[in-house]
Amino acid sequence: MSLSAAQASSNSSPSKDFIGKSVVTLDDLTTEQIELLLRKAQYIDANRKLVSHTCDGRIIATLFYEPSTRTRLSFETAMLRLGGQVIGFAGAQLASVSKGESIADTLKTVENFVDVMAIRHPKEGAALVASHAVNIPVINAGDGGHMHPTQTLADLCTLQSRFGRINNLTVGLCGDLTFGRTVHSLIETLCRFGNVNFVLISPDELKTPQYVIDRINATDNCTYVEVKDLVSVIGDLDVLYMTRVQQERFFNEDDYLRLRDTYILDEDKMRLAKKDMAVLHPLPRVNEISVDVDNDPRAAYFEQVKNGMLMRMALECSVLGDELPGFDPDGID
Ligand code: CP
Repeated sequence: MSLSAAQASSNSSPSKDFIGKSVVTLDDLTTEQIELLLRKAQYIDANRKLVSHTCDGRIIATLFYEPSTRTRLSFETAMLRLGGQVIGFAGAQLASVSKGESIADTLKTVENFVDVMAIRHPKEGAALVASHAVNIPVINAGDGGHMHPTQTLADLCTLQSRFGRINNLTVGLCGDLTFGRTVHSLIETLCRFGNVNFVLISPDELKTPQYVIDRINATDNCTYVEVKDLVSVIGDLDVLYMTRVQQERFFNEDDYLRLRDTYILDEDKMRLAKKDMAVLHPLPRVNEISVDVDNDPRAAYFEQVKNGMLMRMALECSVLGDELPGFDPDGID
């Protein structure tokens, strides 16, 4: 990717403008910066040893007020693989928040110890509050039912590696489209790359929020349809993004029990799909993808996990301004 004339003449660059940046949503990054991260992730994967001291002396704090396996461990592994170190907590019950400390006070404390922090919190907007409270980069690792930008980076990396592009695709999103924050981040970001037909597959109770629909409507070259039936549309899809019904965000247990198994992707349904369709899922899954799909070459959800680590490596060194040895940010590696 080469710099646009405007960027070149204004003395700014996607690489330079990254330094110190907080990422609450992917709207905090330019399209060029997202493309730069995709290139960096590919470079990191091919040059793991060469990049292993990129962040020597750096420390990331992972502050997880909600459960996580993939996101926390991949943020941490990412920093360790770049030569840095990690502190943090997983589960606020062990931190002073359990004594009544505010998020802002916790962050202003941790800010003194580290260079960058990743925060997951059950409340929508918590990452934005965090980013205003401190003077180091804050990366949103998921805020309630709102956004999960680094999961979207993993998703984009997976689409890029499967299709060689992240546009001109028919993308089905299936399951809990109300509370599934990964869905919201992904739709908003794919709209920026354009030419995506979204097929939004959910029961009436779990439809996509209006602010996300508004984003599709505001994008000239993207379309959407809302349907309830997966079987009738699966044959049209390039990508099927399955999601878990988010039990922890339901107010009513009966509603959760009624809706949790609305969609189960299995071998029979996969027979109706295109031969090169990609099945994505941010994980964890419960029942929505049968394990008999795991060995199907179209199953891409464990690739997503690896890509999540690579993209977090790319993001961490970028916001810290630590350059990957041998990487040419202007496009000729
Ligand atoms: N995809 C994802 O956010 O997984 P975790 O909840 O395990 O971090």
